Amino acid sequence: MRTYIMLKPDALKRRLAGEIISRIEKKGYEITDMKMFTLTEDILKEHYAHIANLPFFPDIVKFMTSGPVIGMIVEGPDVVQGMRNLMGATKCLEATAGTIRGDFAFTNGENLIHGSDSPENAEIEIARFFGK
Ligand SMILES: Nc1ncnc2c1ncn2[C@@H]1O[C@H](COP(=O)(O)OP(=O)(O)OP(=O)(O)O)[C@@H](O)[C@H]1O
Ligand SMILES: [Mg+2]
Repeated sequence: MRTYIMLKPDALKRRLAGEIISRIEKKGYEITDMKMFTLTEDILKEHYAHIANLPFFPDIVKFMTSGPVIGMIVEGPDVVQGMRNLMGATKCLEATAGTIRGDFAFTNGENLIHGSDSPENAEIEIARFFGK
């Protein structure tokens, strides 16, 4: 199974990319593709269609376009749920210690990492960002 992972601009600005990638590697998953790029508002409207009408969406666009991201394809058994477990909950106060967000994120918006929420969405997102 494979999933789409994206290190958000705060991860790069805070020099946490290496730490986060290291956790993915230590878990045992395989990173089979990786690239650095900058998101646009158009692609974010597509990627975050489920939150595009919520009041905080303009702030998410501002944040997510504020610097480069690192997109990755990560592979392993049950990796979609497994990566969500490594990431921790969306809301920083619900993300438990030991998870990436629990250890390093302190706001709900700037939460360091995106991971697909289902195997179906993983394939859609890999097609969107890697064209494969
Ligand atoms: N209540 C909120 N306040 C501020 N930002 C939020 C809030 N809810 C979600 N977000 C932002 O929108 C992103 C997408 O929300 P979603 O519900 O898909 O959470 P997620 O699946 O945990 O995160 P992601 O899709 O980035 O992996 C969140 O990661 C966060 O940056
Ligand atoms: Mg999501």
